[in-house]
Amino acid sequence: MKKEALEKLLADMSIDEKIGQLVQITAQFYEDDTVVTGPASKMALSEAALSMIGSVLGSTGAGKLKKIQEAHMEKHPHHIPLLFMGDVINGFKTIFPIPLGQGASFDPVLSGQLASIAAKEAAVSGLHVTFSPMADLARDARWGRVMESTGEDVYMNGRFAEEMVKGYQGKNIADPYRIAACIKHFAAYGAPTAGRDYNNVELSERTLREDYLPAYQKAVDAGCALAMASFNSLNRIPSTANRWLLHDVLRAEMGFKGVVISDWAAIEELICHGVAENTKEAARLAFEAGVDIDMMTAAYASQLKALIEEGAVRADALDAAAMRVLELKNKLGLFEHPYKDADEATEKQYILCSAHRKAAREAAAKSFVLLKNEGVLPLKKQGESIAFIGPYAEERWVHGAWSIFADEKNNVTLKEGIANKLGLREDIRFAKGAEILDEGQTVADFAKSVVSEVSAEAREKLLSEAVEAAAASDKVVLALGEHPAQSGEAASRAELTLSDGQMELLRHVSAVNKNTAVVLFTGRPLDLRAVEKYAKSVLVVWFPGTESGNAIADVLFADVCPSGRLPMSFPYAVGQVPVFYSEFSTGRPAALTGEDSRFGSKYLDIPNKPLHPFGFGLTYTQFSYSPVTLSRTHIAAHERVTASVTVENTGGFAAEETVQLYIKDDCAGVIRPVRALKGFKKVFLKPGERACVSFEIGEAMLRFYNINMEYKSEPGAFTVFVGGSSETQNCARFMLEPETEEVMR
Ligand code: BGC
Repeated sequence: MKKEALEKLLADMSIDEKIGQLVQITAQFYEDDTVVTGPASKMALSEAALSMIGSVLGSTGAGKLKKIQEAHMEKHPHHIPLLFMGDVINGFKTIFPIPLGQGASFDPVLSGQLASIAAKEAAVSGLHVTFSPMADLARDARWGRVMESTGEDVYMNGRFAEEMVKGYQGKNIADPYRIAACIKHFAAYGAPTAGRDYNNVELSERTLREDYLPAYQKAVDAGCALAMASFNSLNRIPSTANRWLLHDVLRAEMGFKGVVISDWAAIEELICHGVAENTKEAARLAFEAGVDIDMMTAAYASQLKALIEEGAVRADALDAAAMRVLELKNKLGLFEHPYKDADEATEKQYILCSAHRKAAREAAAKSFVLLKNEGVLPLKKQGESIAFIGPYAEERWVHGAWSIFADEKNNVTLKEGIANKLGLREDIRFAKGAEILDEGQTVADFAKSVVSEVSAEAREKLLSEAVEAAAASDKVVLALGEHPAQSGEAASRAELTLSDGQMELLRHVSAVNKNTAVVLFTGRPLDLRAVEKYAKSVLVVWFPGTESGNAIADVLFADVCPSGRLPMSFPYAVGQVPVFYSEFSTGRPAALTGEDSRFGSKYLDIPNKPLHPFGFGLTYTQFSYSPVTLSRTHIAAHERVTASVTVENTGGFAAEETVQLYIKDDCAGVIRPVRALKGFKKVFLKPGERACVSFEIGEAMLRFYNINMEYKSEPGAFTVFVGGSSETQNCARFMLEPETEEVMR
């Protein structure tokens, strides 16, 4: 539809119709099979209001959505189509590794490809919008939603957000198999106090701008069509009611032109936050702040009209908000093709097709991080007997907490993956050994509570069968982990350990078989001290998705060598959290004050360093690095310096190395991180092979918010680190020269 036609349509719409465009509900209003929680269950929408709503969330299926669309358009006074939105996070039906696992691949371009597969499956099933990517910087492993993030690093998160937006949206969201992306949760949702979900976030404006906004900005620059306001309050103002954040920063400064949507029931929650006395005030605050769509409350539907009639909110602001929603529909081509790609035949053809499964298998293998390996891995396909033990040996829920459209029956278990690779043989044993949760331990999933209710005798039996299998085998692979519902939304944890039952299993099994490797399923960094005491090898597999078992088998048997790197530091103890590599310099660094002095910035009882740092990951071979060489030692602001290393595969397996570039600003007007990631490149090397890897460094990479909050670099010395993790000491120095008058002119 042409712009003029859209404007004519808006001008012809009643105030109720315009408000309707701003209302989003679930499909439970059309059928009765959706779980509705919290304030949403109290939603009271009249028949008339229902016929004018603008969008529906959380429902899929080409046939079903086409029917809903048809009926809605028929009833709607101007026959305006609905938008169908949903949480397509790490895949739609073919599930890829959780976003944290994708972060571990250090391969944003790959995540872009996965997003485009997810878009295709979602689009043929009738969806137009996904609530992804989540670009919240995550540094606190207690927060369950770290599993939805790509990790603790500013630069990495930005790269992933950008590629995912491009992957979902392509060049034009009207094109076949493209869906609109929604950057979330704006802003700084990843920094809740004490890691407790939905909690207040306190951040200085400097930290907000320097560390938290850049990833959202990358998504905005990539043309992301929607943005979601976050649940949290930021410096004591709920984002949903924060005009400075949603208007001055997001729209005016960051240049966002799309639709802003609230999070689930967040407008009504302004009452609980204590900033609105009633629904009417909540609606006014959110609307004035710049929230266009009200997700899952009746606040806009029931209050906006009166607010406009009283002059409490401006009618032209309603026009602008409704127009943004109409424009999104128009950009998707819905006025001409209201079903867009929804099609039962293509749904059958593409969903879970072999090409998508192949991509899922490769992506999963790339996300695994080998944290420790004292010789147990890789396993041999012949000549050694192996026991695969643990609650994840045959567990099918391996796609994590947020794959709400996935059916776990499509997932490949570890046992199936091993059987696919080796066949079922006598020297390959399987045993469960323990439940994931301890007796009586409960975790609430989205829809149900999961309680472990296995009797003490049954647990004893599981344990003894496992010990027997372990004792009879040359090696043990112990598949342990968090319960999938222990991470994700509303899944904060204060103790980052495995259940007692699983630890007991590990102790017993490793007592009878020293060659024990742990394969760890997790949605977050855990405190692995106790695990590493008993396990000779540890492979973190996150929640790998549909092809889980096949991908794990590929890596365990070295058909694919591990190449993942930690996207978040694994803490030494929870007491360190949030712990991240790019911490700030202090006046009393522990390294300077020394072990014997009390007065350093350190703990008395544990080291400062995490157990495993950001960027770390082993493989079955080794890589050596030459010293960093710089193409020059001084640059002016308009010049560039190239940092190079030669990387050599000195071991016995062909594998991929992730070469990482970090820069430290040695002295500046405000304190700078001890180092910050500025680039990374992957090289695949055969044994004995070498490659020269170079990074170009320019002045733009050295900018930060200076003492006057201007985003600028400062001349002086910079240290460049190039190596295989955030702890590399392989470095060289260059100087950024002060700008001469000639350059300034
Ligand atoms: C989550 C969002 C999600 C929304 C819609 C909320 O609870 O915070 O990330 O997109 O629900 O399902």
